[in-house]
Amino acid sequence: MTRRAIYPGSFDPITNGHLDIIERSAKLFDEVVVAVLLNIDKEPMFSAEERMDMLRSVITWDNVTVDSFEGLLVDYATRQNAQVIVRGIRAVSDYEYELQMALMNRRLEPRIETVFMMSGEAYSYLSSRLTKEVFKLGGSIKGLVPGLVEQRMKARLKGHTED
Ligand code: PNS
Repeated sequence: MTRRAIYPGSFDPITNGHLDIIERSAKLFDEVVVAVLLNIDKEPMFSAEERMDMLRSVITWDNVTVDSFEGLLVDYATRQNAQVIVRGIRAVSDYEYELQMALMNRRLEPRIETVFMMSGEAYSYLSSRLTKEVFKLGGSIKGLVPGLVEQRMKARLKGHTED
C-alpha cells in the first residue's frame, strides 16, 4: 500500500522550517502532497498561484508534489487517498492549537491520522508571519527562507512602494 501524506498550510511564503518538515516527510512516506490552502482569511502577501510556484521551485524531492485545496482538509485528504496529515510543531505554544485541529479532524474523519513532526531546532522560532514582519521592517531574513523566496519578497515590496 502506498503511504501518502498531506502537508497542508498557508505557506505565505514557504520558510526553511517548512522545507525541513517536507524533507523529513519525504523520507518517511512514499508520497507527500504539499497542499496550499486557497482562501486564507487574512490578506496574503502572495496569491495561491505564487505560493505554489515558489513551493514547486524549491522542492527537489521526487516523491513530493504541490497542490491546492479549499474546504475541509479531511475531505481533500480523502479525495487524495491520503492516510496521513503532517503538521510541524515548533514549540509547546503550537501544541494546543495543533491538538485541537488534529482532534477535530479525527472526529470528522477517523481514518486519517495526524502525524506531528518536530522541526529542526534552528527553525523552532521561525514562522511565515514573523518573517514577513521582519522583512517589511527592513530586518534581514537571510537563512530563514529559500533565496528565491527572499528575491520574490523583495520584488513584491519594491512593486508596492512604487505603486
Ligand atoms: O499554515 P497554517 O495557516 O497553520 O495552516 C492551517 C491549515 C491550512 C492546516 C488549516 O487552516 C486547515 O486545515 N484549513 C482547512 C479548513 C479545515 O479543514 N478546517 C478545520 C480544521 S480542524
